[in-house]
Amino acid sequence: MADRKFRDLSINERVAHLKEKYSLLPSDMMLLGKFGTLGQERSLYSENAVGVYDNLTYGLAEGLVVNGKEYEFLPMAIEEPSVIAAQSNANKTISKAGGFKASVSDPSYMFSQIQVTNLNDYGTAIDAIRAEKDNLLKIANAKDPKLISVGGGARDIDVRHLPTRRGDMVIAHLYVDTKDAMGANAVNSMAEAIAPRIEEITNGKVYLKILSNFADKKLTYASVTIPKELLATKAKIGDEEKTLSGEEVADGIEIASAFAEADHYRAATGNKGIMNAVDAIAVAFGQDWRALEAGAHEYPYISKRYGYSLSEWRTDKEFLYGKIEMPCSVGIVGGAAAVNPLAKLSRKIAGIESAPELAQVMVSAGLAQNLAAIKALSTEGIQHGHMRLHARNIAIQAGATDFDIDMVVDGMIRDGKIRQDYAETLLKDRKQ
Ligand code: MEV
Repeated sequence: MADRKFRDLSINERVAHLKEKYSLLPSDMMLLGKFGTLGQERSLYSENAVGVYDNLTYGLAEGLVVNGKEYEFLPMAIEEPSVIAAQSNANKTISKAGGFKASVSDPSYMFSQIQVTNLNDYGTAIDAIRAEKDNLLKIANAKDPKLISVGGGARDIDVRHLPTRRGDMVIAHLYVDTKDAMGANAVNSMAEAIAPRIEEITNGKVYLKILSNFADKKLTYASVTIPKELLATKAKIGDEEKTLSGEEVADGIEIASAFAEADHYRAATGNKGIMNAVDAIAVAFGQDWRALEAGAHEYPYISKRYGYSLSEWRTDKEFLYGKIEMPCSVGIVGGAAAVNPLAKLSRKIAGIESAPELAQVMVSAGLAQNLAAIKALSTEGIQHGHMRLHARNIAIQAGATDFDIDMVVDGMIRDGKIRQDYAETLLKDRKQ
């Protein structure tokens, strides 16, 4: 190792190096050098690989209905308890109400930003870029014949002045129809291709050429109308089991929504709940979930569509109405989505055939997840539902195995003592 860089070692050599350096135990070594469903070759698409991280549950939410199509099983990859169960529950209620209506913005574009600086006169530079638009689009399109062959390509250029603390800049946006690709590589390559010509015609210097993750030209919308009676529920409130009418539940949901719309502290949490579904589907389908997160959390602050929230719930006499609107740039060709075998399997299980379909499913699922969360929060709270899974984790930490885990979980819940020391006591008692 002394004379070689870590990145130049084979995977076996890297693992051996770690073993020696950190005195790894056989149990640690079991976690390294394995490549699961991804396979060693594909794991090399990020650097310094020593294994794959496979500690997320790959589970199937049931019964989502979007635009009249039923997704009997929808793959989700997530470590958080209750998300998949809540998803299936909300999907069931919503399917009884006819499911989601969803759509994507038309046209839907990804775009890259080109930052032009060192300008004598930003007005002249803006005029020069506008006058050169057709040629710039031609240069961009020459970069990606494959995209052109499937009907996509660069479509437009916007340009504006941006005053900054480092002087006046001109920012050009290059809009690209990326079809079924998420499109990051396409728009970045196109931006790099047109940058030299932009420098030439503006006499400026181009620094950054990169997509914007605030993909507000690639929006996805979903909505649902739920008859209130479908929301009636039994809820454990304190020690009492109560029956709540659909009217009461719908009212609680609208009040929770009003809170998130008006308060950014609450909106961050509600939006995180929406992303529980969006991200879990994104991971299962090999998408860049960081890109989705970046866009999702920026969007409400700029659009003010539903205040600080990505979603809105309103009621009238008979119905609860839910809506969501967010950027959602996903792909089914190119990138990890194309090579990751689990991503391909996810598409097969769900029967998803295009990027817009995937976006509509993800955003609808996000709204269903939001409904599940605020329905629980505005009735019995979420801890009750979490308890069994929480107790399971504690039982495992206390050393329970498949053989005695149910006994320990039942005992902790029965005695109202969900604590590691009590799990250990139950395990000890059993062994005596
Ligand atoms: C937890 O992961 C998500 C929730 O906090 C979402 C919400 O508060 O709406 C339950």
